[in-house]
Amino acid sequence: MALPVVDTEYLKEIDKARRDLRALIAYKNCAPIMLRLAWHDAGTYDKNTKTGGANGSIRNEEECSHGSNNGLKLAIDFCEEVKAKHPKITYADLYQLAGVVAVEVTGGPTIDFVPGRRDSNICPKEGRLPNAKLGIFSSSHLRDIFYRMGLSDRDIVALSGGHTLGRAHPERSGFDGPWTQEPLKFDNSYFVELLKGQTEGLLKLPTDTALLDDPDFRPYVELYAKDEEAFFRDYAASHKKLSELGFAPRSSVFKVKDSTVLAQSAVGVAVAAAVVILSYFYEVRKKMK
Ligand code: HEM
Repeated sequence: MALPVVDTEYLKEIDKARRDLRALIAYKNCAPIMLRLAWHDAGTYDKNTKTGGANGSIRNEEECSHGSNNGLKLAIDFCEEVKAKHPKITYADLYQLAGVVAVEVTGGPTIDFVPGRRDSNICPKEGRLPNAKLGIFSSSHLRDIFYRMGLSDRDIVALSGGHTLGRAHPERSGFDGPWTQEPLKFDNSYFVELLKGQTEGLLKLPTDTALLDDPDFRPYVELYAKDEEAFFRDYAASHKKLSELGFAPRSSVFKVKDSTVLAQSAVGVAVAAAVVILSYFYEVRKKMK
């Protein structure tokens, strides 16, 4: 599908959609599922085949019906309300914008958002997102999945902190309950709770406890539990990477264009100056004759 033209008009629509998303998320209290939608659209990326990624393909029944996406139709439908008001914006941009806004309005860090993602109707095969039920194999499973996206150990731990929001629903995943005491507040309590161990009423997936048991993951858990600023800084960077999987922002192209334009104008000025100087000397020589 065509690449959207990111001109001032498009940027204005993004701004308006951002405001509409803020209002919608506040009204429906749906920040967690909007974040989960953004992550599940982007998290299918495969850096080797350059397939999947933040391309809006999750809106198609074929992908939306994957077991790991249970419940996400709700978030897709919420986004449709915003799409109807701003049809120019691609689904791929809209879902990622929804994820960024969800984090911001619940008190999380500001995440840099660059628009321009292309929509795709090509759905990846089922099985590209992590499976929470793999028990003792969880660490290597997490690495298999996230390394395939091109992400690192630090990204894995920082992004897992997204579970500071929301809860599991038995009818969607078979798991039940929130990870934190305040599941509508984005803070570092996911890591604080993880280090505390089992607490009545709070959830720990096997993939969550894997972060504690792995010698390379654990130091990040400890850091983020004691230093929320470090978590926010790393989370914002990792979330930006996630939101841009399969998408190369074109700002560099603009820069090249700008400098070409600049170079062209510099040549123009130089030529004009040379013409003025030459005609001056021509006039002087004429007078001297
Ligand atoms: C690391 C591997 C991950 C696994 C195995 C995993 C698994 C799950 C599961 C089983 C649920 C419960 C779904 C339900 O029953 O409603 C869930 C919910 C959620 N996940 Fe993850 N997840 C992972 C990573 C992430 C990442 C990277 C993010 C975002 C940055 C994220 C954000 C969320 C959110 C916000 C919810 C709550 C949704 C709601 O309240 O409706 N998850 N996840």
